Amino acid sequence: MTKFAEKAGSIFKGGIIGREIIFFESVPSTNDKAFEIGQQKENPEGIVVIADSQTCGKGRLGRRWISPPGVNLYFTVLLKPPFPLKESFILALAAAVAATTAIRKYTGLDARIKWPNDILINNRKSCGILTEMKSGKDRINLMAVGIGVNVNMLPDAFTDDIKPFTTSLKIESGLSFERDKLLREILAELEKAYKNLLTGNKRALINDWLRLNCTIGNEISVQSRTGIISGIAAGINDNGELLVRPSSGEIERVSAGDVTILKN
Ligand code: BTN
Repeated sequence: MTKFAEKAGSIFKGGIIGREIIFFESVPSTNDKAFEIGQQKENPEGIVVIADSQTCGKGRLGRRWISPPGVNLYFTVLLKPPFPLKESFILALAAAVAATTAIRKYTGLDARIKWPNDILINNRKSCGILTEMKSGKDRINLMAVGIGVNVNMLPDAFTDDIKPFTTSLKIESGLSFERDKLLREILAELEKAYKNLLTGNKRALINDWLRLNCTIGNEISVQSRTGIISGIAAGINDNGELLVRPSSGEIERVSAGDVTILKN
């Protein structure tokens, strides 16, 4: 058993998150594995599934997430948020706030959120979040919050197509970090952010997201489901959707997409 595997099992026990922590050396995707496990449990909320590597790590918008062993964090937290389906997107923002706050505290690096939940350091992505859901008619039955952090990965491990846009905590600082310590910080912050949502304190979460973001106020273009929208990122609404003000016309609401920051 590796040192990471030994430590992972007892990394964090919050009131909700970390009731059970399950470690695998390798899985196709921790999100898929978490759903598989969650569907067999009576109360899966708070279960954390961690892997040292993933063979089919999934990114947003159908991309893949490079997941070699020994260097990074790949984990999924299962939640059963009692929110209507249309409010589920806020969980992705909560996860971004948690991971960004933890990275900033543990490494001292200036991590920032690009809408909705890419975590950038010096404009390059160091952490990505993929939330997936099993839902009923208008409620969430089970949500998988999957987080991947490039911790000690070196530039050669990235494929050429993403090298210019991607980084790791080690590349940015020149230092190696302990994955278990960072994981503990992220889970503790996620517990805080989730509790804020459960107690109806959505405003606190949105204010934290706004404080940590690097998107709002900038000229951007968004590749959304319906095409490309360009304009000024004017803000986010209470559901976490991005509000874009094009040079002509009315504010548009974007609920999923990929942002490029054109000028900041
Ligand atoms: C993104 O494209 O930004 C999202 C990346 C999410 C990667 C994490 S790694 C743990 C979890 N399991 C997956 O297959 N994906 C997420």
